Amino acid sequence: MFQLEAMLPLLILAFLGTPAVLTQSRYHGSETGKHFCIVAPEGEPVTGIWASLKNNILSSIRLKFGNNWSQEYGSSGRAEIEVKLNPDETVLGFSGSFYIFMHQIIITTSQPRELIIGPLTGRYVYTSYPENPNHVFRGICGYYVTGGLKGMRYLWGNVNGTCTE
Ligand SMILES: *[C@@H]1O[C@H](CO)[C@@H](O)[C@H](O)[C@H]1NC(C)=O
Ligand SMILES: *[C@@H]1O[C@H](CO)[C@@H](O)[C@H](O)[C@H]1NC(C)=O
Repeated sequence: MFQLEAMLPLLILAFLGTPAVLTQSRYHGSETGKHFCIVAPEGEPVTGIWASLKNNILSSIRLKFGNNWSQEYGSSGRAEIEVKLNPDETVLGFSGSFYIFMHQIIITTSQPRELIIGPLTGRYVYTSYPENPNHVFRGICGYYVTGGLKGMRYLWGNVNGTCTE
């Protein structure tokens, strides 16, 4: 069961082809609306991801560091989903989809397993993996409007470093 699911990001990677698509600085979706960044404090790993959904799109997002949740960014939705990472589990990469708004986040972890946030597949797919294999997931920057999250990018860096956009 897992193997099929685990292959999905690899297939998406193969489909997207060119390495240029995977550069760190890229936003997935559009860079319109209010900008935000949620960045892990130095030395603190990301321990969870929470999102709210509205009309089948991602509406707002929060990240958890240790036992603390970050501020919520976006426009509060009606349904909520929360995924927690186990103590030794790390994020290997993200994939997902978007169209007018962000639709889906698929988190591939070291356990290994896949955690899926968002019920619908958007028209375009994206992936985000660290360029440096020693780097870990450090945060998310994005854009939102009243309708929900318009675009997002994932930050990768050293767990002991500070990470800015
Ligand atoms: C959580 O918040 C408390 C109180 O502000 C702070 O002392 C602690 O360092 C925070 N922990 C993390 C992992 O950010
Ligand atoms: C981060 O800092 C801790 C405490 O100084 C150290 O034990 C650990 O090896 C460091 N990790 C990395 C990836 O540099």
